[in-house]
Amino acid sequence: MTTGPTLDVEKVRADFPILQRTVHGKPLVYLDTAASAQRPLAVIEAIDGFYRNHNANIHRGVHTLSQEATEDYEQARLKISGFINAPSEQECVFTRGTTESINLVAHSFLRPHLQAGDEILISWMEHHSNIVPWQLLCEETGAVLKVVPMNQHGELEMDALEEMLTERVKLLAVVHISNALGTINPVAEICTLAKQHGIPVLVDGAQATPHQAVDVQALGCDFYCFSGHKMYGPTGIGVLWGRYEHLQAMRPYQGGGEMIRHVTFEASTFNDAPGKFEAGTPNIAGTVGLGAAVDYLEGLGMENVAAWEAQLLAYGTEKLSQVDGFRMIGTATNKAGVMSFVLGDIHANDVGTLVDLHGVAIRTGHHCAMPVVQFFGLPATARASLGVYNTFEEIDILAEALEKTIDMFA
Ligand code: ALA
Repeated sequence: MTTGPTLDVEKVRADFPILQRTVHGKPLVYLDTAASAQRPLAVIEAIDGFYRNHNANIHRGVHTLSQEATEDYEQARLKISGFINAPSEQECVFTRGTTESINLVAHSFLRPHLQAGDEILISWMEHHSNIVPWQLLCEETGAVLKVVPMNQHGELEMDALEEMLTERVKLLAVVHISNALGTINPVAEICTLAKQHGIPVLVDGAQATPHQAVDVQALGCDFYCFSGHKMYGPTGIGVLWGRYEHLQAMRPYQGGGEMIRHVTFEASTFNDAPGKFEAGTPNIAGTVGLGAAVDYLEGLGMENVAAWEAQLLAYGTEKLSQVDGFRMIGTATNKAGVMSFVLGDIHANDVGTLVDLHGVAIRTGHHCAMPVVQFFGLPATARASLGVYNTFEEIDILAEALEKTIDMFA
């Protein structure tokens, strides 16, 4: 174990009501934050308070409630913009989540310019949400999807990436932190390389925003996508950050109310960004909850969050490696709090089911990143993923549960 705690984890745990519950008569040990984080009371109360006190539609009403709801919505945008150091809150588009953010870029930014023979570059460790939208575009247009390889540790082959950056590449889409392996990719370096070839870069930041400080200007990307529910906020809300010149040049993704400036039966004109991408009544309470999640994380300090989770990861890596039959999948030098593993030849789903009996929640399967498990020649892995509320003791409980599991199969 390394140095002492950088945040008061018992105080943090008290902020999360769900951590008081038991599962199969045992205290809940929640190690599935990469799938969806738990919510602190501050987020739950912000949503509750919005519905109790301010609920109305936004940008449409002159009455007090509508103005208050609009203020809440736009305040959330402002908070999020500060959280990722965006140059302007007008560059932050509310979406349903990372998946919708990526699809929006696929359809509104790339699709209109894509031709047969053009290339879209992704990496081997992408989540399906950063694979399938590009495959669909390739099917429609005759463009080609190219994949940057990774090594046995689950690190990108940077030399190969550099060689693949040709004039045929119209977009590079890469994950910041792999949900299946925990690898932290050198996104700033990747953006610098791509810029030398004039290639725009989209970053899937779903697993990064909850765990480390993100500065979109320092990264140098063109688009950054993330989800509320991974960062202790609500489901069904997320963000697309994009450079304003891109957003302004892009066609709307969906048509409807609020995204227009003027409508006749002959033609319509559209709002400026971000409004032109927010057709229909949005998830207003979701933005309020996401704003509260940002306040919560900023209150803890992202440096403290990252430092605490780094200690947990170091401890967990050592502790779990002592369990018979444990093999870590994803051993990158620069790694976040994701521990994917196999346990002997026990199927991951059996491992997940058996540790659940000890109150331990982990994810099993392909983690929506099938090419990753295929790369390692596996049908599935089990995955323990860390959040701000986890403790060393919880990792011990997981280790004991794994020992008991392997004993059952001995
Ligand atoms: N992307 C989510 C995960 O990693 C669902 O589990």
